[in-house]
Amino acid sequence: MTVNVTVTGAAGQIGYALLFRIASGQLLGPDVPVRLRLLEIPAAVKAAEGTAMELDDSAFPLLEGIDVTDDAKRAFDGTNVALLVGARPRTKGMERGDLLEANGGIFKPQGEAINAGAASDIRVLVVGNPANTNALIARSHAPDVPSDRFTAMTRLDHNRAMAQLSKRLDVPVSQIKKLTIWGNHSATQYPDVFHAEVGGQNAAQALNDAEWLRDTFIPTVAKRGAAIIEARGASSAASAASAAIDHVNTWVNGTPEGDWTSMAVVSDGSYGVPEGLVSSFPVVCKDGAWEIVQDLEINQFSRDRIDASVGELAEERDAVRNLGLI
Ligand code: NAI
Repeated sequence: MTVNVTVTGAAGQIGYALLFRIASGQLLGPDVPVRLRLLEIPAAVKAAEGTAMELDDSAFPLLEGIDVTDDAKRAFDGTNVALLVGARPRTKGMERGDLLEANGGIFKPQGEAINAGAASDIRVLVVGNPANTNALIARSHAPDVPSDRFTAMTRLDHNRAMAQLSKRLDVPVSQIKKLTIWGNHSATQYPDVFHAEVGGQNAAQALNDAEWLRDTFIPTVAKRGAAIIEARGASSAASAASAAIDHVNTWVNGTPEGDWTSMAVVSDGSYGVPEGLVSSFPVVCKDGAWEIVQDLEINQFSRDRIDASVGELAEERDAVRNLGLI
């Protein structure tokens, strides 16, 4: 059966890297036909139509059609997978409250449109920043959609942590398992290697270098976005698109046996993360659903960092609550 996939911010740089991979079958699998819905603001509809022309010209066998619109209701009507990429970036002099408010103006109506018209199996991934809190806003305006269908992306952070560990230990990424990103997709995020395995051995033990973990690994992963901007002159786009593909693919098709991934999901109170916050956890995916990995022992080093990032999420939630956005 054809799957309807909606991508917002389709004319942006992540959109450009993402759409061709979805159309080629990498999002859901090589046997799943897709129909794309591209949502943009009116000023960028023409650019999105240009991308749609290029998608046509790629003659993807799995691509059954493309609609371009600036109407959220149309974009989410009957949709099965929604990738919410378009967001309002922070511009110079903008306070955090202004940023949250501007994004509330985007994610509130999108949540409402998803609630009104999306397919009953809708799965939502929020990529646009601040991703966790934007997901919280959208979710709170979609009361009829089960809350486990709203997720935010920390898979790019997860993949970045895999890459750093792989380089440091000189092992292929395929040998690294059970890495976790906790908390917010922001500089406070906590990449946790204490339960990770490298070639079957505990990663923290294999490293045996607390200083590197604290002073190099964690800040390198957390500040990688800024380092990419510095080097490339533009923010991460292809790697973000790749992580979005990974996130949805894992959610739908499952985590490999003996491994888990990182997803920001609506907390059920696990690991002391207040219920309702959209926070990153270690999750296992099976049969199209995710579950938080339970009963991991959290040492004090990890506890302090998880609490700091979750504290930031609680502040963002309070701010959007005070603005009447949730
Ligand atoms: P971009 O500025 O190139 O594209 C954003 C697009 O969104 C623009 O075409 C804009 O017209 C569109 N847009 C704005 N408001 C919209 C609305 N209401 N409906 C539909 N479309 C709308 O930005 P880029 O590089 O593609 O990044 C997109 C977002 O992803 C940013 O918020 C960025 O911070 C975030 N991001 C998140 C990452 C994560 O790991 N969670 C990683 C990298 C980027």
